Amino acid sequence: MTRLALIGYGNVARALARLLRAQHGRYPFRITGIQTARHGTAVSSRGLDLEPDFGPAAASIEDFLEAAQANVAVELTTLNPATGEPAISHIKAAIAHGMHVVTANKGPIAHAYADLRDLAMRRGVKLRFESAVMDGAPVFNLVRHNLPGVRVLGFTGALNSTSKLVIEAMERGGSFEEGLAAARKLGIAEADSTFDVEGWDSAAKTAALANVLLDARTTPQAVSTRGITRLTTERVQELARAGKTVRLISRARRGSSGLTLRVRAEVLDRNDVLASVQGTSNILLLHTDLMGTIGTVSVSPAVEQTAYGVFADLVDVVGR
Ligand SMILES: NC(=O)c1ccc[n+]([C@@H]2O[C@H](COP(=O)([O-])OP(=O)(O)OC[C@H]3O[C@@H](n4cnc5c(N)ncnc54)[C@H](OP(=O)(O)O)[C@@H]3O)[C@@H](O)[C@H]2O)c1
Repeated sequence: MTRLALIGYGNVARALARLLRAQHGRYPFRITGIQTARHGTAVSSRGLDLEPDFGPAAASIEDFLEAAQANVAVELTTLNPATGEPAISHIKAAIAHGMHVVTANKGPIAHAYADLRDLAMRRGVKLRFESAVMDGAPVFNLVRHNLPGVRVLGFTGALNSTSKLVIEAMERGGSFEEGLAAARKLGIAEADSTFDVEGWDSAAKTAALANVLLDARTTPQAVSTRGITRLTTERVQELARAGKTVRLISRARRGSSGLTLRVRAEVLDRNDVLASVQGTSNILLLHTDLMGTIGTVSVSPAVEQTAYGVFADLVDVVGR
């Protein structure tokens, strides 16, 4: 029986708890602790219900981890794009406690991946984060498990759903604001949607991918970033009449002058593979030495797919 300590119990963690319950016959995970920001702490060695009774908050993350007596910490707290905290500290505390760590939070991977990877390696525990960039569609596990001997040389991706919905609304003649409202209605825009349209969500994803796949040791702030805020409905419609569209594209390239990381609103032919995904779907192309360019696409991912990515990491960590 693998015992889990959940840090954060919001949309993703609750979807994970439902998935774990549904899969319990095949995968006997047990949630023995849940720590939240405002709802307090719940701990039970026998396993917690989907809607547990929360008591007073543990005094510190260390106290919580000690009380939960778990093998794996699952970090699912709110993203802090500027620093990656407090998730970085949560992960460090769990590693220090000798626990494996699974997270869907891209903050720690975008800001502190090399540090966390080295800490985990020295402590002999695993760190997994499949859902951090593509909502559960395999990227990191694809490279880890399916591309032995391959070096990733760079990547190109359309990784931000909100910007896509804004551009699609403008193509239909709507305004920038109407596109944002549609994204908010679907619940996919960040709480502060400037984070999406100014490119910071894409920059964080770019930094996370580059840190893991290209050993970049970078941060979102170091990614050259421009968003879609200067686009107008007139310009987008003019491009559409010429058979073109716009996507917020993340690019990483290793050249003679080192690694270039950038996020830009790029004009693409309608039939460009990067323009082929619509709405909330995302696409990532990996450029490799031995396998050329291959891609992964997430079609209309929902929170259940993000939860699946966390579940896949849990199964990977416990070695089944
Ligand atoms: N939603 C998605 O589809 C999706 C997709 C990919 C990745 N992610 C990532 O997954 C993570 C979780 O997303 P979500 O949508 O589940 O977020 P959410 O619904 O906002 O839930 C966040 C949870 O974190 C808790 N929390 C915040 N600060 C904390 C702290 N310092 N200590 C302990 N708990 C804390 C909150 O506690 P309270 O309940 O008490 O407020 C809440 O339970 C985020 O990093 C997000 O970027 C989400």
